Amino acid sequence: MSAVENILDLEKIAAADRDSVWHHLAQHKSFEQTGPMIVVEGKGMRIRDINGNEFLDAVSGGLWTVNVGYGRESIADAVREQLVKMCFFANSAGSIPGAQFAAALLEKMPGLSRVYFSNSGSEANEKAYKIVRQIAHKKYDGKKYKIIYRERDYHGTTITTLSSGGQNERRAQYGPYTPGFVEMPHCCEYRSQYGEIDNYGERAARELERVVLEEGADTVGAIVLEPITAGGGAITPPEGYWETIQEICQKYDILIHIDEVVCGMGRTGKWFGYEHYGVKPDIVTLAKGVASGYAAISCTVTTEDIFELFKSDESDPLDYFRDVSTFGGCAAGAAAALENMRIIEDESLVENAAVVGDYMMGRLLELQEKHICVGDVRGKGLFAGIELVKDRASKEPIDESVAAKVVADCSAQGVLVGKTNRSITGYNNTIALSPALIAAESDIDEIIAALDIALRRI
Ligand SMILES: Cc1ncc(COP(=O)(O)O)c(C=O)c1O
Repeated sequence: MSAVENILDLEKIAAADRDSVWHHLAQHKSFEQTGPMIVVEGKGMRIRDINGNEFLDAVSGGLWTVNVGYGRESIADAVREQLVKMCFFANSAGSIPGAQFAAALLEKMPGLSRVYFSNSGSEANEKAYKIVRQIAHKKYDGKKYKIIYRERDYHGTTITTLSSGGQNERRAQYGPYTPGFVEMPHCCEYRSQYGEIDNYGERAARELERVVLEEGADTVGAIVLEPITAGGGAITPPEGYWETIQEICQKYDILIHIDEVVCGMGRTGKWFGYEHYGVKPDIVTLAKGVASGYAAISCTVTTEDIFELFKSDESDPLDYFRDVSTFGGCAAGAAAALENMRIIEDESLVENAAVVGDYMMGRLLELQEKHICVGDVRGKGLFAGIELVKDRASKEPIDESVAAKVVADCSAQGVLVGKTNRSITGYNNTIALSPALIAAESDIDEIIAALDIALRRI
């Protein structure tokens, strides 16, 4: 192809995108002038767009997903081999990579014993909610059907997962919502609702008990929480929080569903976020990093106690989990997940996330010292948020347009960072970092250098 033909081709692609694709979370009016970035290739931590610009990706594909980095031929090979051999069969049957991946995953999740496959985080969470609802019917005469979720958490984009979403800007205008979901307050100590107190973690968790008692403990079946709130502002739980949540759940016979869609598979420096807090979940949901975006796969993982409830009564035709996920039977997802896990293990990427994550946090604290607009830095492993404020004393959030300028400035310098996006009104002010688990200290230095310049400029 000649250079001229190539340029025409690129222009055609940009035009086709501009004229045909409906992009997520975007106001398209602005795309009429300049279309969105069109990504064409990636290797390791770096990607290249259609115009040949190279970027260091500090957000793992924009959504905490490409944990093992771009261009992994061994995953592509595993997927190809599997697809040529056996691409799909409904999950009523088994598959070789499905069985192998489920067993390998469960080895890392003591106390949990069953994996249900589907293909997005939202779908995995929907499965969990259906399990809770069906348990309510099986054990509690339909009564214990309510599910408590937390302000600022996010669990997906479908109407029912939005019903459990604590971000008003994601929910607005999509109601009415599925009944039976009840909100409890967030646990962001920097934004304490109870003034400056010593035991914020316990205090924030006690809100669960208040909500349970208000609703009636015999109506509450489960709580769904992110181990660390991601899109709602990188909120690490304060000390004592999870212990109190667990104690309350045990007291009132409430199942604990942990949404590890972002934190799972090593992002926080442990295989799963809940391991930092000594929690014993009943249900765990996983997506994003399970196959690092090389294929779509998500998992709803439960205890044997839960699974047992669904295989008990052969005489009752409604007594099992009457769910189906067509693409849960796509063998590419499991094949990619298996190879993804091998890479994480062989390259010690969970350990790398812990070590380089600590380094990143140290560098972010330096930025905080340097720039008065940095109100708070939070995170664990290779997962962090930088909350920007107008004034440190009043903690008044910086306008989201200013946070957007920081993102754009970094991008112009060749570094892609994210920010809380259409989450909570007034709080789209947190810059988000989630580099791939392969990140080296030199990558972090490059990210920090770009942020340093961008923060200086605002
Ligand atoms: C914590 C959490 N749960 C669930 C989801 C939904 O996942 P998906 O977009 O794959 O449906 C997301 C997506 O960002 C998420 O951050």
